[in-house]
Amino acid sequence: RDLTRANTLGLPSRAVHFVAPASQGELMSVVTMARERQWPLTLLGGGSNLILGECLKGLVVQPAFTGWWLEQGPAGSVRVHVEAGMEWHALVMALVERDLWGIENLALIPGHCGAAPIQNIGAYGVELAEVLEAVHLVYLDDGREAVLGSADCAFGYRDSIFKGELDGRVAITKLVLQLSRRSCPRLDYGDLARRVGPAPSAREVAEAVISIRREKLPDPSQLGNAGSFFKNPVATTVQARALLSRYPDMPHFPLPDGRVKLAAGWLIDQCGLKGYREGAFGVHDRQALVLVHHGDGNARELLAFSNAIAMRVWQRFGVSLEREPRLIGLADTA
Ligand code: EPU
Repeated sequence: RDLTRANTLGLPSRAVHFVAPASQGELMSVVTMARERQWPLTLLGGGSNLILGECLKGLVVQPAFTGWWLEQGPAGSVRVHVEAGMEWHALVMALVERDLWGIENLALIPGHCGAAPIQNIGAYGVELAEVLEAVHLVYLDDGREAVLGSADCAFGYRDSIFKGELDGRVAITKLVLQLSRRSCPRLDYGDLARRVGPAPSAREVAEAVISIRREKLPDPSQLGNAGSFFKNPVATTVQARALLSRYPDMPHFPLPDGRVKLAAGWLIDQCGLKGYREGAFGVHDRQALVLVHHGDGNARELLAFSNAIAMRVWQRFGVSLEREPRLIGLADTA
């Protein structure tokens, strides 16, 4: 099965075996079958945060169950149940249409709902962890079902237990979110506030986010990419102070513990690399944190390109950049 179109970077990849179960029951049978045959299992969502190797051994499973429903929650809140295969952006739009608040800032993030907790998707001052109540999952080694509450997911910035202890060990089948019927716009990031009128609806906030994203981020159907390629690095207080004395205009966001988050896009941009291209890969010309695939490249070349970018930032600023998308079917050489 060719997976080139199943990853938004458009890297050439294929699966020896592939299945897209249409229900949780089907997923459970597939997991049992793979265990009996001792096939390694790889879970795939929308493929928007992955770097795929050229051949994935064993069985690749892409959950294709997409149901969602609402339930009355405590204190005027609404619980949203959503199955793993649903497109995240479609869910956001369906909920803002119903005047529900909590995920409007996460509009237009590509990918499936089941993958959203893995990197704790976040944008414009909001992270999934803030509205996530529970994650339903199946352990791949014995087919056991479990429910993790949000507090059990070890959420951090672009991080969770699904990238750590549970990496490669579970299939996420369903999320439960808790949203609000009360208007609670979160407009403190960048120029979001300036893009909406006073007392905006959830849908207006989502539309403002969509327009900002369309201005800066390449559409993966037009130009291969995986969104931000690096995490925003966190500097110590001392390091940040030294950098700020040399670069007073450097964007920086103090964290509660005294450390300071820096903007990786700005660091790359300052190295003169915005729009830089080498072979099949390049730095996006409107947002330097996004690496793009112009075609005919592969994962190894992408890793070499990204290592070279990170090295330039290291040489200039002494700041090391950590890759954000996950490697599947490839040894980590970075
Ligand atoms: N900047 C530059 N040049 C650039 C890019 C950015 O100078 O080429 C500066 C901007 O002017 C701004 C700062 O860097 O002062 C931050 O830029 P931006 O607001 O575009 O956000 P970001 O930090 O680069 C993060 C997320 C994005 C998310 C946006 C909005 C990470 C790794 N990335 O990007 O997430 O959409 O904030 O919240 O945290 C993703 O994860 O795939 C993603 C797109």
